[in-house]
Amino acid sequence: MHLLNKIALACALVASAPAAAQTARDIHSFARPEEARVTNVDLDLRADFVAKRLSGTAALDVQAAPGAGRIVLDTRDLTVQGVTDASGRPLRFTLGAADSILGRPLEVRLPRGTRRIVVRYQTSPTAGALQWLTPQQTAGKRHPYLFSQGQAILTRSWIPTQDSPGIRQTYSARITVPRELRAVMSAEMLTPRGQVVAGGRAFRFRLDKPVAPYLIALAVGDLAFRPLGPRTGVYTEPAMLQRSANELADVEKMVAAAEGLYGPYRWGRYDILVLPPSFPFGGMENPRLTFATPTILAGDRSLVSLIAHELAHSWSGNLVTNATWADFWLNEGFTTYFENRIMEAMYGRERAAMLASLGWRELQDEVVAVGGPGSPDTRLHIDLAGRDPDAGMTNIAYEKGAAFLRTLENAVGRARWDAYLRSYFDRNAFKPMTTAGFLADLRANLIRGDAELERRVGIEQWAYQPGIPESAVVPRSDAFQRVAAQAQAFAGGTPAASLQTRGWTTQEWQHFLGALPKQLTAAQLADLDRAFGLSRQGNSEILFAWLQTAVRNRYEPAVPALEHFLTSQGRRKFVRPLFADLMAQGEWGQALARRIYARARPGYHPVTSGSVDAIVK
Ligand code: BES
Ligand code: ZN
Repeated sequence: MHLLNKIALACALVASAPAAAQTARDIHSFARPEEARVTNVDLDLRADFVAKRLSGTAALDVQAAPGAGRIVLDTRDLTVQGVTDASGRPLRFTLGAADSILGRPLEVRLPRGTRRIVVRYQTSPTAGALQWLTPQQTAGKRHPYLFSQGQAILTRSWIPTQDSPGIRQTYSARITVPRELRAVMSAEMLTPRGQVVAGGRAFRFRLDKPVAPYLIALAVGDLAFRPLGPRTGVYTEPAMLQRSANELADVEKMVAAAEGLYGPYRWGRYDILVLPPSFPFGGMENPRLTFATPTILAGDRSLVSLIAHELAHSWSGNLVTNATWADFWLNEGFTTYFENRIMEAMYGRERAAMLASLGWRELQDEVVAVGGPGSPDTRLHIDLAGRDPDAGMTNIAYEKGAAFLRTLENAVGRARWDAYLRSYFDRNAFKPMTTAGFLADLRANLIRGDAELERRVGIEQWAYQPGIPESAVVPRSDAFQRVAAQAQAFAGGTPAASLQTRGWTTQEWQHFLGALPKQLTAAQLADLDRAFGLSRQGNSEILFAWLQTAVRNRYEPAVPALEHFLTSQGRRKFVRPLFADLMAQGEWGQALARRIYARARPGYHPVTSGSVDAIVK
């Protein structure tokens, strides 16, 4: 192909993206979109719960440069049975060598004029994106369950497509499942009850807005639905429906609050799927259908900032999308900032200040965890050469990213900042964004040649240098100052029962536990546990903070609660640190870790067990 043609096509394919976004190359995909790219995916898959496989076809619409003779797709652990064109004529294909991080390229010959290719394939029972749950691992205990998790580069383990966040695709699907189950996807549901077909029930879906492939998502199980408002609702197992609907009662208002900040919600409905406890993340922003851990069901709506976060991704992430995984902070930092603004709009300044303050402390801890303020992994734009994108998915992206935006807000004032951010989402909607592209947009539309402003904030330093810049605006919470005083009083000998804790919210308890001295005696721990019933806590965040304190002080009486927590949910954020803390406690902790992990591991998602395997040998 002529170079000029290539350039022309590359420009046409990412029409009107900022200059920097056009040149972003994704090192985590084999795709060569400048030659040929996928624009739409049409799935026809059957879920076999006995074999733990999806099988069927993926029909891909292809846009090829003039003269391009092939298209390159991403795959991982797929069995490819054949590739044809739209009329069923076989196409030649080759599966390249497997790379341990990227999987295998699937190269398909494209005869001139080929616009659609059909890949017949099946997934492996160990596909990284899929977790097949036994009935025992569900709330109802009677039916199996399946869910997918594509981010960052796992979609290729269940769909042979170009698995790069800069290559947006629309999609449709027909999913056939056992008759008693129901399928849901991150798309418009065309057949709410499904259609009875030979050997099962078929559900159809369509998403007519182009999205990054990591956002294509599927779940199958015994699912019930309850509306929360005119355009919001919750799906979950029948046994969890009442609790879930009660916890999520504010979601309809939350969508309106988000729109009030940064413009219209562009995806139609906003539903939430509350998953079984092995879901490895807190939440996942699958379009139109956030996936959420059941560990947010505290009973008092105190953990709904997680929903604010996933909802915010409907703008930052799903609308304006990190072009590569090195730009992951553009998704998570913007979202963490936006999440806090939603929480402020919904529940007031003090709640938002407490959440931001907890985030700031997580940032300080993460800087230490990734090697200190000089470590290259404290940069926002990170170097992932030769690494799995998961390596860059730390709190730096979330909390340093949010601190950067908070600092910008503070520098120009909220009114000007909010107008800018809203225009940024509009200008860049449905496009990939790089770090350089964001800085260019910022200079063109907010900074506008104000050299003093640019220097005061230090935007290049924020984006590309390690550590936390001096200009950072540190969140402050008056409530937390009072809480810290109580923690100090306890450290100084005041009995737990005499502390002033009346009316404390979940966030205040989290801060209290984090503000206690690192070393506590068994008598102090017993006093806390007795006074506040910490080992019996039903709130997952408070229980987690308490169990960390207990483990770090080898507090034996908390072990049954620890064991129960680690075997009853598999959220990586809770599970990994607790096993790491155990392993740091000599033979006492290591023996416990090995014993508990042997029981817990079969229930975990591969994302969680993979990271715990690296800790517990
Ligand atoms: N998109 C992320 C989850 C994710 C990140 C999955 C990277 C795979 C790779 C999601 O929006 C998220 O950030 N979830 C957080 C909760 C949030 C409130 C900070 C989580 O799961 O802990
Ligand atoms: Zn997120």
